[in-house]
Amino acid sequence: MQTITIGLLGLGTVGGGVVKLLQEHAAKIEQTTNVHFVLKRVAVAHLDKPRNVTLPDDTILTDQLDEVLNDPEIQVIVETMGTINLARQAITQAIYNHKSVITANKDLLAIDGPRLAQLAKSRHVDFLYEASVAGGIPILRVLSSSLATDQISQITGIINGTANYILSAMTSNNVSYDKALMNAQKKGYAEANPTNDVKGIDTANKLSILSQFAFGKALDPNKLGIRGIENITAAQLASANHFGYTIKLLAIAKRLANKLYTFVGPALIAHNDPLAQVDGVQNAVAVESNALGSSVYTGPGAGAKPTANSILSDLAAAANDILDYDCGSEFNNYHNELEPCSLTTVPQSYLVTTYGTSAKPNSTVNWQGEFSGNNYWSGLTPVISHQELESLLKSFPKSSAVSYLPVYNTAKL
Ligand SMILES: NC(=O)c1ccc[n+]([C@@H]2O[C@H](COP(=O)([O-])OP(=O)(O)OC[C@H]3O[C@@H](n4cnc5c(N)ncnc54)[C@H](OP(=O)(O)O)[C@@H]3O)[C@@H](O)[C@H]2O)c1
Repeated sequence: MQTITIGLLGLGTVGGGVVKLLQEHAAKIEQTTNVHFVLKRVAVAHLDKPRNVTLPDDTILTDQLDEVLNDPEIQVIVETMGTINLARQAITQAIYNHKSVITANKDLLAIDGPRLAQLAKSRHVDFLYEASVAGGIPILRVLSSSLATDQISQITGIINGTANYILSAMTSNNVSYDKALMNAQKKGYAEANPTNDVKGIDTANKLSILSQFAFGKALDPNKLGIRGIENITAAQLASANHFGYTIKLLAIAKRLANKLYTFVGPALIAHNDPLAQVDGVQNAVAVESNALGSSVYTGPGAGAKPTANSILSDLAAAANDILDYDCGSEFNNYHNELEPCSLTTVPQSYLVTTYGTSAKPNSTVNWQGEFSGNNYWSGLTPVISHQELESLLKSFPKSSAVSYLPVYNTAKL
């Protein structure tokens, strides 16, 4: 049996999970990989912080990243610190020191992933990040291996557990956005500052990575025109339900010829769509591809053990490459010049809701359905162009608030 020596940066939720799984699954890992993994050094920010993991006796705990990054015996660095600049610096240093790198850092990957991947390739080391999208669901490896030979036309994800938990709670428990967010924070499903999760930023970051794997095109998350879930109302949820839909925060990338249409935001999704059944902190990714047709991958999108399991699968792959003298292949080697376009510019159907009235507004739209409740009115439009939507919104009295949401998979490309 061969030995591979690891350095771990960060011993929080994910780093702690990595240590636990390396211990709990040691026998299976050795049998399936024929590798004995030695965790030589672990870097943390606070040396005295109480931990709920016990490090192996010989493992050295340090608050000096350099001690881990510059140790010549360490062959693989596992980065689970988070942050952007510090992690970027550490990963770059590790690559220059000829160490393969595994990370779960989707924020960094979304803005600098392709550059780091090229750097790793040029230095003949592996750069793997299965845990960065949908936590425990092995979606990147499915896209880059099992579906590598298939032509993907659309990928749709529910890839933020916090937002999905909040929307599920608002739908099934009939609670407000604020109450659902507070409950999510109490249960540890939302951070004290939930901005990235509820505003769709985290979802956009992950869509950028998914798009690289599915379509060979990394997206700039800042150019995606993201909408969040903070303004979703009980009226929209009740109206959607009346029409046979639920509301989910979706990430969509859809390819037509050389164009890649993208969307990140809340949308209505039919009750009978498999994605509509994905509740709470669960994640799901639906793939439409030429050979396979529709396939859906669901599972835990976060958490210590699910995320750590994805890291360990990367670790097994990296170890294999080190032992075969075959490091430096890109995790995803599919590259394509596609033109990014916004799906919001394409004709589709919308749920339009107006507040402060339960009366039908004056408009020329041929509503597919109407519903009114306590102080609100909602209508479901047929497929209309973006210009028609804008004129429709302008036709409502200036005094009334109006909101709209697209209906998933009604876009006519
Ligand atoms: N949590 C999840 O379920 C999940 C899922 C998928 C991806 N991710 C990603 O995984 C990464 C880690 O997330 P997490 O939830 O595990 O974070 P976390 O619980 O906050 O842990 C961060 C760890 O990094 C350490 N750290 C911070 N600054 C450091 C420094 N300057 N030097 C050395 N160590 C430092 C901290 O040390 P101390 O403990 O001493 O403070 C802590 O152990 C993030 O990129 C996140 O986006 C997380």
